[in-house]
Amino acid sequence: MKIRIEATKTPKALPAADNPLPFGTIFTDHMFIMNYEDGKGWFDPRIVPYAPIPMEPASMVFHYGQELFEGMKAYKAADGRILLFRPELNAKRSNDTCERICMPTIPSDDYVMAVKELVRIDAAWIPKRPGTSLYIRPFIIATEPALGVRPSSSYLFIIILSPVGAYYPEGLNPIKIWIEEEYVRAVRGGLGEAKAGANYVASLKAQIKAHEAGYSQVLWLDGVERKYVEEVGAMNIFFKIKGKVVTPVLNGSILPGITRKSCMELCELWGYEVNERQISAAELFEAAGNGDLEEVWGTGTAAVISPVGHLRKGDEVVKIADGGIGSLTQRLYDNLTGIQLGNITGPDGWVTCV
Ligand code: PLP
Ligand code: COI
Repeated sequence: MKIRIEATKTPKALPAADNPLPFGTIFTDHMFIMNYEDGKGWFDPRIVPYAPIPMEPASMVFHYGQELFEGMKAYKAADGRILLFRPELNAKRSNDTCERICMPTIPSDDYVMAVKELVRIDAAWIPKRPGTSLYIRPFIIATEPALGVRPSSSYLFIIILSPVGAYYPEGLNPIKIWIEEEYVRAVRGGLGEAKAGANYVASLKAQIKAHEAGYSQVLWLDGVERKYVEEVGAMNIFFKIKGKVVTPVLNGSILPGITRKSCMELCELWGYEVNERQISAAELFEAAGNGDLEEVWGTGTAAVISPVGHLRKGDEVVKIADGGIGSLTQRLYDNLTGIQLGNITGPDGWVTCV
């Protein structure tokens, strides 16, 4: 793939060093765009100044939501290298989502090349303060102007970049999680395991409810029995119960997180027994009552490793690790961020130089 480059003539001022970089609110100077048309395939890959894109009001994405996105981060290592964390897994997951929502896939090498090239051009935007990074948001939208319900015949693949601080205002302080009993996010056979925008629209109502009750995120229950915990709005969930690491098994309605996979691999490397299985909310509250629920944390690109301090379901509330950060949670945070920043050597192939 040969990427055409049109550099901006009016670069924006970089954020000040003390800017808290609220998640996803500041965008860099450039974006990557590539078109697709049936019969022609993907064409005209280009990096151009970040700017509004002209769209037909009839574009299919506006009506039936044929859209997917990914999330990854670029980090500036102490030695000046720019590092990505397992980007080929994002390319693969994007293609898996493409298959599910009937979009054309993108060769993994082209996907990663587009990310690297854009990050290289906007490298000055990678923030350096601890806990900050350059968030990368690739997405694909259906652009054919037509109102029939069917897959679009044309698409745009776009990548934008945003220097970010912590996703949760709490930072590494434990967050409070609300187990949602009324609304569901996804059902098996639906879109839950795909990274489609539609899943996030489905989550908004319960998220508002949780916020109003003073909770930062929703922990979803399975859509059928409403008994088993699945994942949080923007992260997968882990529990340490009697020394063992437990996370909900990927059942079709849970996003297969890359941080989840990496976290399981680290825990196994450190000798923990890791179980992927169904886990009911009732089991969690019982374990908490017995003192067996030792730690709870979420994993995600934006969320990194987020300790959970409280879980609430209806009128039941449990406090975990005394509302503090458990030792395994802290070890995972330190090691994962250490690997991502190039300070710790991780398993082979986990970091890629831009
Ligand atoms: N679950 C949901 C719903 C998400 O949006 C995310 C974020 O990408 C995750 C889990 C974590 O996935 P990853 O670790 O690949 O970022
Ligand atoms: C990410 O962690 O990259 C995500 O996509 C979560 C997002 C909803 C902010």
